[in-house]
Amino acid sequence: MSEPLPPFQAPTGTHDVLGPDSALWEGLVGTFAQRAYRYGFSLVMTPIFEDVGVFTRGIGEESDVFRNEMYVFSDRGERRYALRPEGTASVVRAFVQHQPTTPWKAWYVTPAFRYERPQAGRYRQHYQLGAEVLGTEDPTVDVEVIALAHGFFREIGLTRVRLLVNSMGHTACRASYVELLSEYLAEHQDELVDEHREGWRLNPLRVLDCKNESCVAVTAKGPMLVDHLCAECRDHFDQVLAGLSALGIESTLAPRLVRGFDYYSRTTFEFVADALDAAQNAVGGGGRYDTLAEQLGGKPTSGIGFGSGVERVLLARAAEGIVTPLLKRSLDVFVVDTTGDVGVARLVEDLRSAGVATERAYDQRSMKAQMKVADKSGARWALLIGPEELAAGEVTMKDLRSEDFNQAQSRVARSEIVSTVQELLTK
Ligand code: HAM
Repeated sequence: MSEPLPPFQAPTGTHDVLGPDSALWEGLVGTFAQRAYRYGFSLVMTPIFEDVGVFTRGIGEESDVFRNEMYVFSDRGERRYALRPEGTASVVRAFVQHQPTTPWKAWYVTPAFRYERPQAGRYRQHYQLGAEVLGTEDPTVDVEVIALAHGFFREIGLTRVRLLVNSMGHTACRASYVELLSEYLAEHQDELVDEHREGWRLNPLRVLDCKNESCVAVTAKGPMLVDHLCAECRDHFDQVLAGLSALGIESTLAPRLVRGFDYYSRTTFEFVADALDAAQNAVGGGGRYDTLAEQLGGKPTSGIGFGSGVERVLLARAAEGIVTPLLKRSLDVFVVDTTGDVGVARLVEDLRSAGVATERAYDQRSMKAQMKVADKSGARWALLIGPEELAAGEVTMKDLRSEDFNQAQSRVARSEIVSTVQELLTK
């Protein structure tokens, strides 16, 4: 006989989410959806793969994500596609294609694919909750988008999350700053870490983001973009900062915050969780992108948004020791039936239709075996139907959380069981 084949595993850097943990995911998505709805956003869903050009033009050919991390493939029709590495470019592509009325506010939950070196908080497939607003430059919207994210983190119980903000300026003021920074880096290139000593000319802004001590020492004394903004960008940024303080949202200016995609302009921000390891502590990030729609073939339309990684948010909750569930996902009743009577299936269906979370045993097992499963199920009550109950048109109701056996059991008429359970659930 041949050896059994080894079972398949989920690909490296990906993971399965099963119950009861999946209730946390459901709770997180539900909380975000409700919140987004209150801020006037509606759900947008776009394909998981796009023409590779959506990302080439959107996130930039020089970005790490594009150069090293994209999952690119050709289909049978020789079309070049990429699995989405992030949500924004696809949403803006959809905006350009459908031209909805502006301001257009859309939220999403999506897997994102990046070929990264997997470690805690960094995966090859992660999930993002995100929101985008297109069609307005109003700094009030920057503040609203940040408030949406900020309040979300609070609502799910996180207390040790800080907001970092910066402004990247618009295309023209960034270009003159990059010149200034390049002159400075040329003078100090020997002090940079190997990777940047050779590579800084490709994307000088990336050096600002480098965590290496020598690069940090060099850039700390160099010019900062936020000090070289044009009057218009400065004014926009000041209004964002004032708007945040008016809402009581604390923020820290982070002049070296450079986000990983080329599409950003003006406001950029990141939420970092202090409970997590510094290398992977960003639980959310985003910013304004005022040229992306044009790059994707649309009319010039400014936009702003953010994305937050579900896995990291859950890691941050765990690291802060938050155990409160985000969603009630427990059984109300467990039906134990030793008669096999067809009416029991009807009773189960009636309970479920009436909003009672109901489970039952299958395969006609013994009363003892079924009760064992009922005890383990976490249900509040067991509803027992044996030959005696069947003959009397009754059900024995057992409180599975009560220690007192006499108090824990009562007989209820079959016709009244649904309303009895419903009433008890409201208490
Ligand atoms: P991002 O900063 O690349 O931005 O990703 C957003 C969030 O996704 C991060 O803050 C982090 O929580 C999570 N994340 C990113 N990469 C990974 C990974 N490999 N494993 C686990 N979690 C990860 C964006 O993607 C932009 N689209 C955000 C945005 C929206 N900007 C404007 N609108």
